[in-house]
Amino acid sequence: MDRIVITGKQPLRGSVKVSGAKNAALPILASVILGGGECTLTNVPRVVDVFTMGKLLGMLGATVQADGNRVVMKMDALRSPEAPYDLVRTMRASVVVLGPLLARWGEATVSLPGGCAIGSRPVNLHLAGFEKMGATVTVEHGYIKAKAPRLKGARICLDFPTVTGTENLMMAACLADGTTVIENAAKEPEIVDLAAFLVKRGARIAGAGSDLVTIEGVKALRGADHDVIPDRIEAGTYLAAGAITGGDVSVEDCRPQHLEAVTAKLREAGAEVVEGKESVRLRAPARLKSVDVRTYPYPGFATDMQAQMMALMCVAQGTSVITEAVFESRFIHVPELQRMGAEIKVDGSHAVVTGAARLAGAPVMASDLRASAGLIVAGLAAEGETDIARVYHLDRGYERIDEKLRGLGARIMRVKDGSSGVASGAGA
Ligand code: UD1
Repeated sequence: MDRIVITGKQPLRGSVKVSGAKNAALPILASVILGGGECTLTNVPRVVDVFTMGKLLGMLGATVQADGNRVVMKMDALRSPEAPYDLVRTMRASVVVLGPLLARWGEATVSLPGGCAIGSRPVNLHLAGFEKMGATVTVEHGYIKAKAPRLKGARICLDFPTVTGTENLMMAACLADGTTVIENAAKEPEIVDLAAFLVKRGARIAGAGSDLVTIEGVKALRGADHDVIPDRIEAGTYLAAGAITGGDVSVEDCRPQHLEAVTAKLREAGAEVVEGKESVRLRAPARLKSVDVRTYPYPGFATDMQAQMMALMCVAQGTSVITEAVFESRFIHVPELQRMGAEIKVDGSHAVVTGAARLAGAPVMASDLRASAGLIVAGLAAEGETDIARVYHLDRGYERIDEKLRGLGARIMRVKDGSSGVASGAGA
C-alpha cells in the first residue's frame, strides 16, 4: 500500500490543471445503462472510483473502453442486473446504477452500501422515490431488490436534497411513462452536467440546477458525445494548498462560478483571489485569519471541502467554528490533525479550531477521500515530515495529486509501504 510523504513549509507557486469531475463522471458513466447507442466522453478523470464504475458496468453488460481521459461506452444487452457487495462497499456511488437498471431493464439488485467512514449514509430517499414511480422495492440479505416492468412518472419531494438520489431518480425518469417532478432536488453542478448529457441523448429534462427538476419520459435515448465538467473539489483543494503555504497559485481549467463558496471564504480569510474565465489565481499572506464555515448543499460550502478548510484554519490567526451540516460524522480527520499539533474541540456537528502558530509533521492515517486531502493540505504547512498512510482513499478521487502538487513546488512523494520516506525536492 502506498504512502505519501510531505516535507512542509514550501510556498506553492505556479499553475496547476484540474481534471474532470469524478462526481459528474460517475453518474454520466452509469447512464450508459439507459441504452441508446454509443457515447463518447472526454475529460473523464483517471481515478479509482471511475475504474470501479467501469468494472461494474462491464459486469452489468456494458462495453466501456478507456483511452486516457476518453471513454467510449455502449450497452445493448443486460448480462446481470446485480451490483455486488464487493464493489459497492468500495464505492457507495455504485448505487447510481439502480435507477437506470430499473428504467431500462425492469429490475435491479444492488448491495446496500454498508458502513461508511462519514456516517450511515442511507439510501432511503432513493428507494422511496422509485416506489413512488411504481417500483416494488425490498431489502433482503443485504441487497436492495427493485422491480418495475415499466416506471411511471411521479411527483417526488425529497426530504433532503440528496445528490446521488436526485441523479438516480432523474435517470430513471428519462424512460418512465409520463412526467416526473423532483421537488427539493439537489442543485450541484454535477447534476446539471448529467442532465446536459442526457438531454443531448434525447431526454427531456427542465430545471436541473434548481430545486425543481421536471423530466418527461421518452421511449428511448440515443448516443452522444460529452466533455465532463472540471472537478470543483480538486480545484478547491489546490486553492487551499496554495493558501496554507502562503503561496501564489493559478488553478487552470476550472469553472470559477462553481467555486464561489470556497473563494468567498478564502477572501474572507485574507487571501487575494482573482477569477479568470476558466481559472482562479490565489495569492495568500504568510498567515490567514480564522473564518467560520458551515457546510451546506450547493451553492453552499461543500462538505467535500470541509477537511481541507479545517486544515487551513488549524494554522490561521484566531478561532474558527466549523459546522458540518450535511453528514453526521464527518470529523474523522480531527484526531489525525491533532496528532500534528492542531487545537480542535469537537462538539456534535461543530468543531472549534484554535489556530496554532505551527503544525508539526507526524505519521497520520487517511480515513476517507476528503479527509486524506485535508491531511495533505495540513502536511504542506507542517514543520518536518508528514507521512500519510492508506492513500488509496486519495486515489479514489484525485488524479495524480502528488505529481500536480510537485509541479507547484511541493516536496511530496509517494512511497511503497516499508520504504523510508525522505521527501524529494521540488520538482525532483
Ligand atoms: C454526494 C457526493 C459526495 C458529497 C455528497 C454531499 C457523489 C458520487 N458523491 O454523495 O462526494 O460529499 O454528495 O455533497 O456525487 N441522505 C439520506 N437518505 C438518502 C440519501 C441521503 O438521509 O436516501 C442523507 C445522507 O445521509 C447525508 C445527506 O443526505 O446526510 C447528503 O447525502 P447525499 O447528497 O445523498 O450524498 P451522496 O449523494 O451520497
